[in-house]
Amino acid sequence: MLDTGLKVLSEIKTNLFNSIIYVKEFVFLYLLIILIIYFLVGFNSLFLSLLILFTITSLIFLNIVGRKRKSELDQIKNIIGKIRGNQFQNSEQIIMSRNLKNLQEEIKLMFEKTKNDIEYLKKLERIRTEFLANVSHELRTPIFAIQGYLETLLNGALNDDTVNKYFIDKAQQHTLHLSTLLNDLIDISMIESGEMRLSYRYFVVNEFISPLVLEFQKVAREKGIDLIFSPARSGLQLFGDKNRLRQVLVNLIQNAIKYTEKGEVEILVIEEQKHGRIIVRDTGIGISENDIDRIFERFYRVDKARSKEAGGTGLGLAIVKHLIEAHGSKIEVKSEPGKGSEFSFRLKK
Ligand SMILES: Nc1ncnc2c1ncn2[C@@H]1O[C@H](COP(=O)(O)OP(=O)(O)OP(=O)(O)O)[C@@H](O)[C@H]1O
Ligand SMILES: [Mg+2]
Repeated sequence: MLDTGLKVLSEIKTNLFNSIIYVKEFVFLYLLIILIIYFLVGFNSLFLSLLILFTITSLIFLNIVGRKRKSELDQIKNIIGKIRGNQFQNSEQIIMSRNLKNLQEEIKLMFEKTKNDIEYLKKLERIRTEFLANVSHELRTPIFAIQGYLETLLNGALNDDTVNKYFIDKAQQHTLHLSTLLNDLIDISMIESGEMRLSYRYFVVNEFISPLVLEFQKVAREKGIDLIFSPARSGLQLFGDKNRLRQVLVNLIQNAIKYTEKGEVEILVIEEQKHGRIIVRDTGIGISENDIDRIFERFYRVDKARSKEAGGTGLGLAIVKHLIEAHGSKIEVKSEPGKGSEFSFRLKK
């Protein structure tokens, strides 16, 4: 009995304590009403009775308000505790009482955002691990090959004129591949860490592309492919970093030649209202719909054997994408397996 009494008292104390934030409003209203009663009935026994009655009602009222506030605070504490303890799988599980609906929505949004942030960080971590594994794998292949050729040469092949040159050639091919790979990796890491500074200038687009096309004429001819340049109106100037754009075009033209067996590779510049669009189009093997979304990933190659044979690292398009995005533009692809591919991007004029 005494126990229950003490418990009720302590609960009332907590409730009153919780309602303390309304104390100023309460005292103001309390005094005002007392004053009104005083003016109405004067100072007499009726006033005293009304004063006691009003004080008791007020305390009951405060107790109710405090209890409600405590229950709301408990609900919020409970939800936050559960979020901290990872007890919710999705935001729909966060349910609060009706008068806390606004807060419930805010907490749900915060929960979703934190969940997405964590998933994004986990994804980044996964990508980083995958990237490291890929880099190690890509480095290991040429290093092992070079090691193998050198060992064979040292073990006697050096004096065998029928094979020595072949092995040295092979070892050299692998060192070239290694250095391309390292340069690509350095480029990627510089772009991603923001260290690569681009210097934008206006340049005459036809004068920029013609020598590049000439450079690739020989390789194309050797493969029996026509390399065609369809220039824009003479004097058309576009805005960008010429060195980086050369890297982009070299990659795209190399790919177009590499993945085309017969037909032609065409480089076009089309003038639009505020932009110039540079297009590299081929009549090659094309890319399937499933692969199109992935070709810009680092190290992604549709046909690993074929790309490697041609000395590819699978970093080319990843670099292209980064560089074009650094120009505030987007690289676009259209492709049909067996028919050919078209890579294009716009530059401001
Ligand atoms: N014009 C194209 N036609 C068909 N497939 C293409 C074309 N361009 C790219 N691809 C596909 O996309 C993949 C990724 O291209 P990317 O340029 O990144 O790598 P790569 O050419 O294999 O090697 P790298 O460019 O690093 O030497 C290629 O392996 C190839 O499968
Ligand atoms: Mg490439």
